[in-house]
Amino acid sequence: MITKCLFPAAGYGTRFLPATKAMPKEMLPVLTKPLIQYGVEEAMEAGCNVMSVITGRGKRAITDHFDISYELEHQIEGSSKEALLGGIRNIIDKCTFTYTRQNEMKGLGDAIYKGKVLVGEQDPFAVILADDLCVNPEGDGILKQMVELYNKYKCCIVATMEVPLEEVHKYGVIEGNMIEDDVYMVSNMVEKPDNDKAPTNLAVIGRYILTPDIFKVIEKTKPGKNGELQITDALCTQAKKGMVIAYKFKGKRFDCGSVDGFVEATNYFYDLEKEQ
Ligand code: G1P
Repeated sequence: MITKCLFPAAGYGTRFLPATKAMPKEMLPVLTKPLIQYGVEEAMEAGCNVMSVITGRGKRAITDHFDISYELEHQIEGSSKEALLGGIRNIIDKCTFTYTRQNEMKGLGDAIYKGKVLVGEQDPFAVILADDLCVNPEGDGILKQMVELYNKYKCCIVATMEVPLEEVHKYGVIEGNMIEDDVYMVSNMVEKPDNDKAPTNLAVIGRYILTPDIFKVIEKTKPGKNGELQITDALCTQAKKGMVIAYKFKGKRFDCGSVDGFVEATNYFYDLEKEQ
């Protein structure tokens, strides 16, 4: 069973300055809901009830968001506004939130390693990068699809999608053999390759299922692209042993780490709400 989901959320969100000067980027709202809440809801749908957040300085709003605000609840009790807190209240009631800080920005691999104290070394766990906002209007959410695949293959799983070749430099990229529809046995992974050196155009997006042996591998992984400890490099070590699957998920992904993707997501959810 995968019950724990890790949310690396220590980054500065520089692409959204000045909005992110005093506010975590994970709290930017798409319509009225912060990005990280979309991620938590996706994790809950997939069966997780422990949400472990890697935070950093200036991220207190995340901790406060997933806590009861007695004053606010008292203030709007009995009014039409009460319903607006229903979703977050349900999350708080059903999930446990744990936190630790990444004191220095040393890369996603390091952030995930910091999560070891939260998720432990016994069980597989999920990782969601909240600025990749994912939806599947046709059925199960992306993480739930991945959990089902995990139950079959019992190894690390990365979500992947095809991107235009001129955009591969923004992503971790995989190479592998298709073993069933939309499922690849990964043989190689490269973090943010030059566009003309990428092995494929299959990009990793911010959803992972990791087995706890990844922590030992991270310990042995040297800093890679941009001098940062990359989870892609640790996963590549596992992939060489045939222990990583890439899954071309069903659904849509919005790059809410960029202004364009964020606006696209906002329009998408706005249109969806108007239809209802
Ligand atoms: C991270 C990962 C990268 C992955 C991407 C997905 O990069 O390092 O492999 O493709 O997330 O969004 P970042 O976007 O944080 O630079």
